Amino acid sequence: MASSSFPFGLLLLLLLSLQSARITGSPSYCGPIPASDKDRIEFAQNLEFLEAEFFLRGSMGKGLDSFDPQLAKDGPEPIGAQKANLDPLTFRIIQEFGYQEIGHLRAIVDAVGGIQRPLLDLSPEVFATIFNKAVGYTLNPPFDPYANSLNFLLGCYVIPYEGLVGYVGTIPSLQYYSSRRLVSGLLGVESGQDAVIRTLLYERAGEKVPPYDITVAELTNKISMLRNQLAMCGIKDEGLIVPLFLGAENLTDSNILSANAYSISYARNPQEILRTVYGSGSEYTPGGFYPQGANGEIASRFLGNRTA
Ligand SMILES: *[C@@H]1O[C@H](CO)[C@@H](O)[C@H](O)[C@H]1NC(C)=O
Repeated sequence: MASSSFPFGLLLLLLLSLQSARITGSPSYCGPIPASDKDRIEFAQNLEFLEAEFFLRGSMGKGLDSFDPQLAKDGPEPIGAQKANLDPLTFRIIQEFGYQEIGHLRAIVDAVGGIQRPLLDLSPEVFATIFNKAVGYTLNPPFDPYANSLNFLLGCYVIPYEGLVGYVGTIPSLQYYSSRRLVSGLLGVESGQDAVIRTLLYERAGEKVPPYDITVAELTNKISMLRNQLAMCGIKDEGLIVPLFLGAENLTDSNILSANAYSISYARNPQEILRTVYGSGSEYTPGGFYPQGANGEIASRFLGNRTA
């Protein structure tokens, strides 16, 4: 009995694991994935590096290595980030957010060890490409996130939200209390950052983004729609002014926070995040902010069959 059921069980296990590899590896998979707590947290660290470098360099003109040279574990210097031309209020806010990201990175390293900083491309061209894709034509002059406070906040609109939805997506799958405590604490501050950025943008929702013929609200809607399209898992990202059917209780078109019909935060899995931050719509095709791909075990699963 045992001798005949063993190979059958093994076969079943093999078939199930092939099936799960096929599904989680499908180009539009939207569900949870199998991974250890460490790998999930280190996946998120990719986004924390991106935020840290964008906020620190955007506000002060110097990045993570100027504050804590250990945290990047000798990962390459980011490309193209600049000190943005910020008004005093925006400067104070972004500087604080940048410092917070250093703490987040330290928390992750202390808890699970951490990954090397991936190569990050924060050059104006990467943002300009995203914004052109979002609006569907070539903005002239090219969008420059470092030009002024409004542009920098629009650049920020692209970033902490990904961390937020990624954390909401990963928390239910975490196995240990200590991991859940860490990640829910990271989520709290991440969603606070996103809320502040969106509130500052909402104050100017009706204004045109100089020198373009498009308002702040329209641009956020278009960026959100682009991200929904890249991630391929339905509407999980909403701009600042929405049709009533996307507003809270279908009673308002203001949308300072992006959330579902229960006003609960949307969740994304790692593939959805990669499709978006790579700008390629494919977790197998790096690009955008991560020209060589993200680091860690989860991102590597999709980069494995690349030829060097
Ligand atoms: C709002 O409208 C959408 C689409 O018609 C619907 O799915 C949703 O349940 C509505 N929400 C509420 C709170 O009634």
